[in-house]
Amino acid sequence: MSGVQIRKYQEEDAESVKEVFTLGMNEHIPSSFMHVLKQPLTQMVLMCTFCALVTSSKSFLLPVLAVTLLLAGARLGIIYMFNRYIEATLSGDLRDVTNSYLRSKDSCFWVAESEGQVVGTVACLPAENAPGCLELKRMSVRRSHRGRGIAKALCRTVADFTRDRGYAAVVLQTSMVATDAQKLYTHMGYQKIKEFVLPDFFGKIINFTLIEFRLDVQPDGQRD
Ligand SMILES: CC(C)(COP(=O)(O)OP(=O)(O)OC[C@H]1O[C@@H](n2cnc3c(N)ncnc32)[C@H](O)[C@@H]1OP(=O)(O)O)[C@@H](O)C(=O)NCCC(=O)NCCS
Repeated sequence: MSGVQIRKYQEEDAESVKEVFTLGMNEHIPSSFMHVLKQPLTQMVLMCTFCALVTSSKSFLLPVLAVTLLLAGARLGIIYMFNRYIEATLSGDLRDVTNSYLRSKDSCFWVAESEGQVVGTVACLPAENAPGCLELKRMSVRRSHRGRGIAKALCRTVADFTRDRGYAAVVLQTSMVATDAQKLYTHMGYQKIKEFVLPDFFGKIINFTLIEFRLDVQPDGQRD
């Protein structure tokens, strides 16, 4: 953490914040594709397509081509799902961070800065579905600066803010493929409270699970 400073968001951070968020989200595309490949439904569709085409065409070329196309389609579907989420965020809260997070006393946006560069981000605001709690959002650290405790410091910043504002707990959602994030939150004392499948068409088809975590901060919930 030496040389890294956690500070409140400023207007000139806007583009870097969008970049750090987008890079962090895009990292989950390969692991999501692997997740899809492991699904029994995917394996069954690929196997049935392959066998049906081998039987009907008496050749291996067509089945191999068809399976390759199906895999490419699945990958494009995942890229589409992530792009849709990234676009919604960039044109949503990250379009105007000041307005989204810095106008109310109960929300905030911080960046981690190293040598004049934004290398990490985190935000929080009152949770819509958990009264009395703040929701941690937009946690992301540049790959080049991982493993130095920056995310832990950002987590602590949110926990301190939540406690100071008199809220009971920090809640957050992450995805099944964000394994480093899950380790981070568990390490910071968060409890897994719920798992559910992403409630949209593609999420249901690929069985994409979201995980909800909670950290109680009053009066003895703090750690680390
Ligand atoms: C998750 C993420 C923010 C962690 O950032 P980081 O600065 O590298 O994390 P830290 O160095 O503070 O590590 C915090 C703890 O998390 C755990 N952790 C983080 N990365 C880990 C890894 N690759 N393997 C094992 N544990 C890991 C460890 O417990 C670590 O503590 P330790 O070093 O004392 O063991 C970063 O990997 C990231 O930006 N990922 C992409 C975006 C993302 O998934 N965001 C979360 C959305 S909810």
